[in-house]
Amino acid sequence: MAGGLKWDLIDEKKGTKTSAFGSPGRINHDSTPFYTSRLYEELPKEQIIKYVENPVPSEFLDKIFCKTSERMEELPDSSIHLMVTSPPYNVGKEYDENLTLNEYRVFLKRVWSEVKRVLVPGGRACINIANLGRKPYIPLHAFIVEDMLNLGFLMRGEIIWNKASSGSPSTAWGSWLSAANPTLRDIHEYILVFSRGMFTRKKHTKRNSTVSREEFLEFTKSVWTFPAEQAKNIGHPAPFPIELPYRLIQLYTYEGEVVVDPFMGSGQTAIASLKTKRHYVGYEINEEYVKLAEKRIRRFTYVQTAPALFDLIVKEGRENM
Ligand SMILES: C[S@@+](CC[C@H](N)C(=O)[O-])C[C@H]1O[C@@H](n2cnc3c(N)ncnc32)[C@H](O)[C@@H]1O
Repeated sequence: MAGGLKWDLIDEKKGTKTSAFGSPGRINHDSTPFYTSRLYEELPKEQIIKYVENPVPSEFLDKIFCKTSERMEELPDSSIHLMVTSPPYNVGKEYDENLTLNEYRVFLKRVWSEVKRVLVPGGRACINIANLGRKPYIPLHAFIVEDMLNLGFLMRGEIIWNKASSGSPSTAWGSWLSAANPTLRDIHEYILVFSRGMFTRKKHTKRNSTVSREEFLEFTKSVWTFPAEQAKNIGHPAPFPIELPYRLIQLYTYEGEVVVDPFMGSGQTAIASLKTKRHYVGYEINEEYVKLAEKRIRRFTYVQTAPALFDLIVKEGRENM
């Protein structure tokens, strides 16, 4: 059978049950044996915890704090619905420190555990990361997954961001047309998706999901294709495109909720939050980038509200005629 062997044993009351091989059946599937298997024994387990949500003080909403995100004391426990971020890569960009791999992981773990504290039960943490080097290759994404699991996050999936031609490095070919040392050129990055404590977010009758049908079908796929952002267009060495936080916000939050980016850079997550009528809180250690992000956010807000302001002035003008 194409795609591997699959025997779905159908018991009318219990639904389908996947035996030894293959992918799960779609209708009324009894997955208990799989999830209770020893494969899951050592992984973090879902805890059904009471839903608690504490408000972020209004003076801290839609702000970027110029400080390290290792401590986010402005944010109460269980107050944030989604974290979207791309961490510093520790590769010698102007904001990077020269840490060993282990020191780098310890630093990031301090941030991830703060994220865990501030997320609401079921809140999601999405980390955009690219792997580094070739001799040998450093699978940063694998280390981050390990660290997040050790902190007790539940992993929900891994999105391959296909940057298509915009991401193709032209150097490091190794040996041309020879098996001596062909070198892979990464045209992808990862977006690792985790949740805190529970798989499901509380259903809110008074909060709207804003994702459209077409977006939902596209954004729930595990490969996303859109171009990277040009550093020189933004004025920051490593911005991600607004499309990246936009998709995660649409998929994982309700309107009016709060998104945190512990490494805010040029403010892309803030702009995506405003675009989708969510609030943001950001942390960014470099004062120049905080100023850049604030300037870009002001410009975005102006462009977004200008047509409405124009309509209002025209309307008032007519009324006063
Ligand atoms: C990869 S960039 C993020 C880019 C951002 N996603 C954007 O689209 O512009 C990482 C950012 O983390 C900032 N940073 C480094 N260490 C930090 C820390 N301890 N706390 C907060 N921000 C930090 C850097 O200055 C840099 O702007």
